[in-house]
Amino acid sequence: MTLSDLSLKEYLAEQCRRIDAELDRLVPVESEPPETIHKAMRYSLFAGGKRIRPILCLEAGLTVAGRDVEGIFLAACPLEMIHTYSLIHDDLPALDNDDLRRGRPTSHVVFGEAMAILAGDALLTYAFDVLGRTGNARLVVELASASGTVGGMIAGQVHDIEGEQQAPTAELLERIHRAKTGALLKCSLRMGAIHSGASEEQLAAISAYGERIGLAFQIVDDILDVTQTSEQLGKTAGKDAAQQKITFPAVYGLTRSQEMAEEQRREAHAALEMFGERARRLHELADLIVDRNS
Ligand code: IPE
Ligand code: IPE
Ligand code: MG
Ligand code: MG
Ligand code: MG
Repeated sequence: MTLSDLSLKEYLAEQCRRIDAELDRLVPVESEPPETIHKAMRYSLFAGGKRIRPILCLEAGLTVAGRDVEGIFLAACPLEMIHTYSLIHDDLPALDNDDLRRGRPTSHVVFGEAMAILAGDALLTYAFDVLGRTGNARLVVELASASGTVGGMIAGQVHDIEGEQQAPTAELLERIHRAKTGALLKCSLRMGAIHSGASEEQLAAISAYGERIGLAFQIVDDILDVTQTSEQLGKTAGKDAAQQKITFPAVYGLTRSQEMAEEQRREAHAALEMFGERARRLHELADLIVDRNS
């Protein structure tokens, strides 16, 4: 039985299982001193995230090379570490001030603010410790840029926070979303492709796909904040309106936001044309990102 024989649901479960096993191997055990920080890191890391970023990384690699190229998990796992750090910090009182994440009390609620800040810092640091083991400096630059302050995740978070005091314009909205969420999702795909020896042409196609699903992902995140319950999401619903966030529903309304996610989905599918049947899972993942309800 190979991955490609599995149903989408089985495939996602299998990839999550493999990613979790690698993360477990890569992160210090809870009994390693100082215990508190390792407990806090693991508490957030193993709280049942969807693992969409490492899955996209692995799948981009499979699409390019037809197999898992040796060391691909050393590229995929750091993406989940960076993502989890960004969530721990996103939830802090100074940022979105959330008390529910991945169906559990947030890190700062359980471990206190100081330890939550440090758990985020630690996951960020470990991400590059692990990624460095690939020996590929290009991957390090990709991940650092996508997480950083020039069009990367931190830039997006800054615009998002400052946006709470600003008029919601279409331009600011797109800038926030491309940076805070789109950059890391696109980077996930690019890292998988680069690690797997993609040609420039293949990398351009994977990047175009990543750009579309990255934007679609945050459009849908904004929609779900309005349409779902906290129980369904495992995080507090209705927060964006309460905090006057600049979101797709706030700027365009729900119906138009949904249409815009559909446009991104169509363009994502089109970007994969050169891969033919080899991109079957990436097509399915684009649909999953738009059709998900959590
Ligand atoms: C939530 O990301 C935060 C955003 C960047 C929109 P996910 O929806 O991937 O969260 P998990 O990892 O499954 O918890
Ligand atoms: C967070 O965006 C993006 C990150 C970089 C963590 P949100 O603030 O919309 O994420 P949620 O809705 O809290 O998961
Ligand atoms: Mg936020
Ligand atoms: Mg938030
Ligand atoms: Mg959100």
